Amino acid sequence: MSDFEHVFEKPPEGAAADWTIPQNWRAYTEVEHQTWDTLYARQMNILPGRAADVFLRGLEALDLNTGGIPDFGLMNAKLQALTGWTVVCVPGLVPDEVFFDHLANRRFPSGQFIRKPDQLDSLQEPDIFHDVFGHVPMLTDPDFAAYMQAYGQGGQRAAGLGMLPNLARLYWYTVEFGLVQDPDGLRIYGAGIVSSATESVFALEDSSPNRLGFELERVMRTLYRIDDFQQVYFVIDSIEQLKRETLQDFGPIYQRQNGAEAIAIDAILPTDKVYTRGTQAYAGKGGRFAA
Ligand code: PHE
Ligand code: FE
Repeated sequence: MSDFEHVFEKPPEGAAADWTIPQNWRAYTEVEHQTWDTLYARQMNILPGRAADVFLRGLEALDLNTGGIPDFGLMNAKLQALTGWTVVCVPGLVPDEVFFDHLANRRFPSGQFIRKPDQLDSLQEPDIFHDVFGHVPMLTDPDFAAYMQAYGQGGQRAAGLGMLPNLARLYWYTVEFGLVQDPDGLRIYGAGIVSSATESVFALEDSSPNRLGFELERVMRTLYRIDDFQQVYFVIDSIEQLKRETLQDFGPIYQRQNGAEAIAIDAILPTDKVYTRGTQAYAGKGGRFAA
């Protein structure tokens, strides 16, 4: 999504017309492979009991812990057999229409680089650990796989209608920062959470953020923050619910939302199903808000 700067206007040198670049797996250094292993081990200490079952099963199915950065050739063989998705490398953030076109064709664009060992927790742009560890396990689930493809198709439409901010909020509060009510309790499945050691704990256990039931139109009107932990997380009942609700025609929703005011990031509405009424103690330090 275009919440980061440095989006190029045309494919940079060395990239194909669809903006993809080779992974060039052999060129990763020992230090880069070790960075992957460190991040992987760190998350595996935190995620059992916190990450959604569907995420943990997907991670296992992909077998990404064989030592170092996954080789996309091997990973894609497994992923494609499961849901028809593949992962392609791109040179950083790509324009919205390129991103949507990849998703609509069941291709997930991933960064090729990995963060530096002295910056394990700060990311200017999504790297291969965020993109692969965070996003790809969910793509092994047939319902989530269908949701992501439909999102790509829906993106083209929303862009044409000037409704991208509304659709982007849906992505943000599900794909990146979603929570799900599993049989054993609240769990995390959003890639931005499960790939972050600190937010994995904060999103579930901190008393600051609100945790509210997912309601499609409500979510599509809610502002979000891109600079820090979220102030509100939305809880789905199941991935199947997410797929079912988003299959509907968004035309009437866009009509209602066109020109409608956005909902404040810390608002709790009378219609909300409240899992946690947060103190918002952590927030309030200022920060940038996406429209
Ligand atoms: N159903 C949406 C539409 O009609 C498309 C969509 C599907 C959007 C899934 C997001 C996720 O535009
Ligand atoms: Fe992401």
